[in-house]
Amino acid sequence: MYKLKSSVIAFFGFVLIGVTVAVVPHTGFGQVSEGNGAIQLNCDEQPCDAVARGRAAFNDRNLNDLGGNGRACADCHMPSEGFQLSPAAARARFDALQAKREHNKNADDPLFRPVDADDFRINGDNAIDFSNLVENGLIRITMPLPLNVKLIDPATGQPTDETSVDLWRAVMPVPNVAITGPDGALPIWPPGAPRPPIMGQDPNGPNRQGGYQHDARFGTLQEQARGALFAHAQVSVEPPAGMLDDLAAFQQTLFSSPGVELLSDAILSGSTPFPDPDPELNELEQQGKVVFNRACAQCHGGMLHPSGSTPETTFVRPLVRYHNIQTACPRPATDGYLPCPERLARNARTYRITLANGTFQFVTTSDPGRLLLTGQPADLGVMDVTQLRGISNTAPYFHNNSAATLEEVLDHYDAFFRRVARLNPAPNLPPLLSSNGLVVDRGFVTADERAALLAYLRKL
Ligand code: HEC
Ligand code: HEC
Repeated sequence: MYKLKSSVIAFFGFVLIGVTVAVVPHTGFGQVSEGNGAIQLNCDEQPCDAVARGRAAFNDRNLNDLGGNGRACADCHMPSEGFQLSPAAARARFDALQAKREHNKNADDPLFRPVDADDFRINGDNAIDFSNLVENGLIRITMPLPLNVKLIDPATGQPTDETSVDLWRAVMPVPNVAITGPDGALPIWPPGAPRPPIMGQDPNGPNRQGGYQHDARFGTLQEQARGALFAHAQVSVEPPAGMLDDLAAFQQTLFSSPGVELLSDAILSGSTPFPDPDPELNELEQQGKVVFNRACAQCHGGMLHPSGSTPETTFVRPLVRYHNIQTACPRPATDGYLPCPERLARNARTYRITLANGTFQFVTTSDPGRLLLTGQPADLGVMDVTQLRGISNTAPYFHNNSAATLEEVLDHYDAFFRRVARLNPAPNLPPLLSSNGLVVDRGFVTADERAALLAYLRKL
């Protein structure tokens, strides 16, 4: 249990004077510089004054007097951490705050606000148990339930009156958001036959061609920032549109490497062929790239899906932007998946889904993914494909930080590919495993290929 010692967290009306969020330069992020917490401006693509205002807003714990809880974007998207939050950083900040509280009961770190405490629903503003934040680096995301979905009370086994559910999700890295949003690629979600709507809901959900967040529920960076200001910074006033535009302008100048910036320019201007964002690769990394193009690029790269683009990818990909790769907890007990540790497994809830024919389906999961946007059981656990550029700076991985290292990521995919092959044998092998449905010529990374693939992933 990670409980904060003083339960007095008086942050409303808190005035922070001259606060700058600690911004430490991070190798690999060319835009970060020292001095007064500033991230160096990159005005190549966007008007410089908008980028400068956006940078200030991103770091502003006072948020132009919008009545927030003292948090800045940079409190979670820590520039020193590749603009995300690792469990190690959350724990270090928690320990530092505990130590300061020994001397000063008003010591504060706005990362630790009751809204992200495990016991918030029970203790409200007096909540102090930050286990999910400190052990897992996860943040509370509250999602409304679709009309056909109910939560089950674990004590009684009966549906509850809850109209929303709390999920726990990893802070996404902000660099490269210039290319992580909607991609305009066909086909739109879902592939294949139309789905019957359930209880009048949109069966496909928002942003059928990609969006922001793990479930792509926001279509623009402005919408995303507005959501973050209300949910995470708890502002009480509608944020001005200009501030949202400035935040977007600033974020669109953050890239994990110069190669990605060039790729982004080409995508925005439509000038093909797109440049290869990879840096110079040695022989092993070159081999790893071949493995990546065969085993991973069918979801993570390619001309029409620029996130983690690999322009050499020549095979026709399924071009599907959303997938369930079984990262939520609990995991299937088959195919070699590692069981989720209790610290993640405890975030699971049981859902009752009313199907189109009126019958019920029950599922227990820590994150139903896009099912919460559509009510469709086919969307259970379905997430947006994450971009992989700069990935070596942003461990741990997946929407619930469930893979600590890239090695663990590959172990997970090993089980995933095995499961897909078992459930869809030839002649119906899916495109992510096979180019003709008959032979496995994609997916699966052999033991001798692992070192090369890992070397390449670390260069992305
Ligand atoms: C309390 C922590 C926290 C704060 C504060 C916060 N975020 Fe986030 N951010 C997250 C989490 C968690 C996600 C993933 C949420 C999800 O998938 O539902 C996220 C996702 C994002 C994404 C999506 C990236 C992508 O590729 O899809 C962007 C952009 C972003 N945040 C920007 C911001 C901005 C701008 C602010 C300040 C206005 C902000 N965030 C404040 C935790 C935070
Ligand atoms: C079937 C499509 C698919 C294939 C094939 C695939 N991925 Fe993924 N990948 C996804 C999805 C969807 C996510 C987001 C899942 C989540 O967050 O829970 C993801 C997430 C990741 C992440 C986490 C990124 C982060 O920032 O947390 C890594 C790393 C990754 N994939 C690497 C790979 C590698 C390496 C391969 C090839 C061995 C591969 N993927 C093959 C769909 C795929």
